[in-house]
Formats: sequence, C-alpha cells, structure tokens
Amino acid sequence: MSLQIAFLGAGRMASAIVDGLLARHAAAPADVSVFGGAGPTASALSARTGVRLASDLPDLLRTADIVVVAFKPQHLASADARLAELTRGKLVLSVLAAKTLARLAKTFPHARNLVRTMPNTPAAIGAGVTGWAALQPLAPADRATVVALLGAMGREIELPEDQIDALMAVSGCGPAFVFEFTAALREAGVACGLARETAHLLALETVVGAAKLMAHTGTEPEELRNQVTSPKGTTYAGLQVLAARDFRGLLRDTALASRARSAELSAQD
Ligand SMILES: NC(=O)c1ccc[n+]([C@@H]2O[C@H](COP(=O)([O-])OP(=O)(O)OC[C@H]3O[C@@H](n4cnc5c(N)ncnc54)[C@H](OP(=O)(O)O)[C@@H]3O)[C@@H](O)[C@H]2O)c1
Repeated sequence: MSLQIAFLGAGRMASAIVDGLLARHAAAPADVSVFGGAGPTASALSARTGVRLASDLPDLLRTADIVVVAFKPQHLASADARLAELTRGKLVLSVLAAKTLARLAKTFPHARNLVRTMPNTPAAIGAGVTGWAALQPLAPADRATVVALLGAMGREIELPEDQIDALMAVSGCGPAFVFEFTAALREAGVACGLARETAHLLALETVVGAAKLMAHTGTEPEELRNQVTSPKGTTYAGLQVLAARDFRGLLRDTALASRARSAELSAQD
C-alpha cells in the first residue's frame, strides 16, 4: 500500500493501526501523517515511529488518499467544518464507537466512500478482530486498502451495519468479559486454597492456553470441552454447576445488555 494515509487523532487506536502497518511493512513512515488535538499524542507517535507530524488540518489532508478518523466519538460534534471539503474524494475510515455511517456522512459528505469500523483492544498487540461496514459497495482497490489497514490490527470481518451493535456485544465488549472471567477464575482458585499469585498465574495461563488451543485446532469449543470431560470426573463436576446456574443464559443476557446499550448510543447524534 503506497497510498498516503492521514490519521485524525493519534491516541491508542491510531497508534495500534500505525504500529501494525509499519510492522507488517504495509506502509512506510513516509506514507503516514498524523494530527491530534492540543495534547502531545501526535508528536509522540511521530517521534516514536517516524511518521510525519502534520502542522494543521489542510497540511494533514492535502496529499492524503485515505483518512482514518481516530479521535474520541464526542469530538465529532465539534469537528472542524473544513473537514467536509478537505476530505472530498477521499476514502474515510472511522473507528469511532457508536457513530453510524449516516452520522459520519454529515461530517464527511464528499468522501468517495465511508467505512465504519469497530476494533477491539487486543488490536494494540495485533490480535484484534475488527468488524466493518461501508456506506457504498467498495471499489476493489478501496476494499484492498480497508483489508490491509484493518488487517494490521489482526483479523477483520465485513458485516451489515445493522449488526455492528451485535458485534460490539461479542468482540467489542468481549475482551472485558474474558478479563472478568479470568479474574473470577483467579478468585475461585483462591477460594480453593491457592495463594493469589499462584491462582493468577494458573488462571491467566489457562485462558491463554485454551484460547490458543481453540485457534490452533479450529475445533468447536464444545468438542474440546467434551474431550476433557470424563463421565463423573472432576471437569464434569464443575460443568454441572455451570449448567445448573445457567452460565450460557447469563452470558446471553450480558451480550444482549451490551447490544442494547450500543444501539442506544448509536441512536444519539
Ligand atoms: N481504545 C480502544 O480499545 C478502542 C476500541 C474500539 C474503538 N475505539 C475508538 O477509537 C477512538 C479513539 O480512541 P483511543 O482509545 O485511541 O483514544 P485516545 O487514546 O484518547 O486518543 C484520542 C486522540 O484524539 C486526539 N484529539 C483530541 N481532540 C481532537 C480534535 N479536536 N481533533 C483531532 N484529534 C483530536 C487526541 O489528541 P491529544 O490527546 O494529543 O490532544 C488523541 O490523539 C474512539 O473514537 C473510540 O471509540 C477505541
């Protein structure tokens, strides 16, 4: 990808994409420009990676073909009105949570296409999964660009925009659910008589190892579960409690609550 990419916002998410692009040689530092708010993030990202620090919005966007919008969702309402003209004819890709394509089109009305994306936090180490939807069907070259940009943070998947709230509930919020599960497993280990440090190590490595095993084998989780569950054995005894307390129903309600909140936020302007 030797297109010029401009980042509007240079915080954690922008850094994750820039780091991924550079590490995978999908872009060179000379292809990337960044511009942030009044704080130090853009100059810090530029100093750390060698990407160009733009002096203002016209400077950021003059030669850019792709614009990645990576400031906070609340910044959109007060975004510089010049962005409408400055992004004319460019491909605009937003990572803003809960900002719909229709809302983005108000700020970027002359973009050649708009892409709404929802990354998740493991993107910071290239292990994310990002769902995305485009306003118009993407031209083949733009599709390749989107896939390369988002692929720099891990896996990517296109889906209809009306499923982004559902994706938010699974992959967007999912890391926090897994963190909570891991902490609960650690506390359970302490309740079983382990020192906290030991329980932490065991819980963490178990979650990491089990996730790697699922990804490595491609085997359905139920099948892997069955492989380690002998009738009347130790795992069986534990799973009986999970079933009796409707663990799956609990997680379903958890995801439904997150989806509902995401839909509520997306409905706000
Ligand atoms: N972090 C995540 O895991 C995650 C996951 C999914 C989606 N997202 C989305 O990613 C976006 C960025 O999140 P983040 O965690 O990267 O935030 P962040 O680290 O706080 O970065 C925000 C960036 O926006 C800049 N900024 C502030 N005001 C601006 C303005 N008026 N114009 C241009 N840039 C401005 C900030 O610059 P200064 O601070 O230097 O002023 C900073 O570079 C959010 O919209 C969020 O919904 C984040």
